[in-house]
Formats: sequence, C-alpha cells, structure tokens
Amino acid sequence: MQPLRVSIVGFGTVGRWLAEAIHRHRSWLEDECGVVVTVVGVATRAGFIYRDTGFDTTALLEFVSAGCPLRDYPGGRRWDSALEGLAQTECDVMAEASGTNPREPEPALSHIRQALGRGTHVITSSKGACAAAAVELLALARRRGVQCRMESTVMSGTPVLSTIREGLAGARVVAIRGILNGTANHILTLMAEGFEYADAVADAQARGYAEADPTDDVEGHDVVAKTRILAATAFSRSIGLDQVIRHGITEITPETLQRAAHTGCRIKLVATMRPQPGHSGQPAALPLEARVGPVALPLTDPLSRVDGVMNALAIETDPVREVTIIGPGAGAEQAGQGMFADLIAVARSPRGRGA
Ligand SMILES: NC(=O)c1ccc[n+]([C@@H]2O[C@H](COP(=O)([O-])OP(=O)(O)OC[C@H]3O[C@@H](n4cnc5c(N)ncnc54)[C@H](OP(=O)(O)O)[C@@H]3O)[C@@H](O)[C@H]2O)c1
Repeated sequence: MQPLRVSIVGFGTVGRWLAEAIHRHRSWLEDECGVVVTVVGVATRAGFIYRDTGFDTTALLEFVSAGCPLRDYPGGRRWDSALEGLAQTECDVMAEASGTNPREPEPALSHIRQALGRGTHVITSSKGACAAAAVELLALARRRGVQCRMESTVMSGTPVLSTIREGLAGARVVAIRGILNGTANHILTLMAEGFEYADAVADAQARGYAEADPTDDVEGHDVVAKTRILAATAFSRSIGLDQVIRHGITEITPETLQRAAHTGCRIKLVATMRPQPGHSGQPAALPLEARVGPVALPLTDPLSRVDGVMNALAIETDPVREVTIIGPGAGAEQAGQGMFADLIAVARSPRGRGA
C-alpha cells in the first residue's frame, strides 16, 4: 500500500467536499487504487497548516464548519500563506480550490506553478488559472513528470476533459461546440417560455444559479475561460482573451427566441472552436477560430434540446465523428467530484503511487 499525501489549498465549498470524499472513500481507495490517502496540508486566506502524519479530516471539517479559524486548529506547523507553506513542505498531490473568477488567474496560478515546479501532481478546479495558462502548466507538468489535471474547470463533474485526453486519445479533434454555462442556459430556457430577461435573471438568482452580479455568466466571460481550457486540452493551443470573439445574452429578447422557435430553432449561448478555414497547412498548425455567443440551433441538433442548468459538449473528431456529452456543469459536489476523479487518476498512475 502506497501513501498519497494531499495538500488542499482553498478550504471552502469544493476543498471541503474533496476532503470529505477522501475520508468517505478511504477503504475503496485502498482496495481499488492501492493507496492510503492522507490530507497533510490545508490552506485558506488565513494561512497554511501542515502535519506530516496527516490530519483527522472529520475533526478538521467539524472545526472549520463550526466557524473556527483554520490557523487555530491544534497541532501541526503553520505559515502565513499557502505559497510559503507549499515551499517548505512535502506532498504528492496539491489540490487547488481557492476562489478565483474566470478572468482572474491568481492566487491559484502561483500555487499551481510552484507545486508543479517542485514535481508535485496538481488537481485543480480554478478556472481562471487554467484559462490563462493551461498550455504552460501542462508543459511544465510533462517536464517534471507529474500530472496537472483540471477536470472540474469545464462542466464540473461531467467528464469532458478526460474524455478528450484519455477516452478519445489518438483521435484528432476537428471542432468543438458546447453549451458551457448553466446559468445562461437556464435564463434562455425561461425566456423561450416567455419570461423577460430581467425576470429570468431574478429567477436564476433566487435558485442560487446566478451570482448577485451575473456579468461573468450572461456576458460570456465564464464560457470564454472554458473555451480557452478546451483549446489547450483539445488542440494544445494557448489562445488569448482577445482571440475569442465574445457576445453575451443580454441583448436577446423573448421575441427573438419566439421568432427562432417559428423557424424550428432554439437560441443557445454556444462556444465554438475549430481550426480557421481558408488557411493552408496541417490542422495542428492552423490558427483557431473561437467564438462565444448566441446561436440559433435547429431542433435536429442535440445541443438545441439541452435545457435549464444542463451543459453539453459536442466533440467532432477524426475518426470517431461527433461525440456529445450532456451533464450538469456546476455545483459544489459536481466540482468536488471532478477533483476527486482527478485524484483517483493520479492515484492509479504508476508515478502517483510512487513507483
Ligand atoms: N462551487 C462550485 O460550484 C464550483 C464549480 C466549479 C469550479 N469551482 C471553482 O472552484 C474554486 C473553489 O470554489 P469554492 O466554491 O470552493 O470557493 P469558496 O467556497 O469561496 O472557497 C474558496 C477557498 O479558497 C480560499 N482562498 C482564497 N484565497 C486564497 C489564498 N490566497 N490562499 C489560500 N486559500 C485561499 C478561501 O479562504 P477563506 O476560507 O479564508 O475565505 C476559501 O477557503 C473556484 O475557483 C471556483 O471557481 C467552483
């Protein structure tokens, strides 16, 4: 049985869910993966705590859930910041779940760079960091012989990145189309039923799908971040923010949706990405055309029937052709599950088990 020591940076909704899942599945992890997983480090904005022998996760979770500050947790060593703690401690996997928004890579990016640079596997749910630097981080991980996994950054616990990287390994991705924001999709679904935009946003907020400021969802910034992560995963390409043509849904009216319905179409906020037509050369060398915006989809298109907070990704490949994955794209347990699946992938790899 191999030890697998995990430091969790960001101990909010997702980080705690992951810690709880590790605890809950410890026998299964031993039997199926041959690893004993211990949480040795935990960080919040208040600092980093570390114990070589691992924390009692149940006691730790009860402590923070009672509102006690992490830095007061008894036992172990402590540092003022995650960066300092990570630099001076050892772990096999750094789980990064600090709060970032889709347009802001920090603080997650520094944590990830530091861990990978020290030869530590990384699993992360931090979209902003991966959107800004996925190609760099994946290359750094390869150079250091470790894994950098980011499943929950696109469609949360619905496995699209591992499907592209592992399930479709060897198939060439020709194009990608996706409904990647559940909040925007919920709003458009309600508007297709006749809701005004403002009422649909208020409904999304009342259900907890939309933030008080829904800008990132309705203006397409969140989908742009996911599109950039998909560019790195599917095309090994880094694309800048300004390379994604972006339109939100704020200009859509119920009348626009009803007109589309009369022509047998449904309007969805769709991310599309493909090598630019009109350029010669090998597909791998072609510039990528990436767009995020409302698109009228015919009812024959599987994406047109993805409603509410559901997400979907259609991956066109050679030779498999179009593979469509539909599933939930948000939620704490979905994001936690995406990270947990990444942890299991590391645990199952020979290097993850210390071989
Ligand atoms: N929740 C979801 O449904 C979901 C879905 C997909 C992806 N994600 C992504 O997953 C990440 C975590 O989300 P969440 O919902 O768990 O957020 P959260 O509940 O706000 O928790 C964020 C955690 O990160 C900590 N943190 C912030 N800055 C830090 C720093 N500089 N060093 C160390 N820790 C720091 C916070 O510390 P304090 O406790 O001191 O505030 C908190 O513990 C975000 O990037 C989010 O976008 C979330």
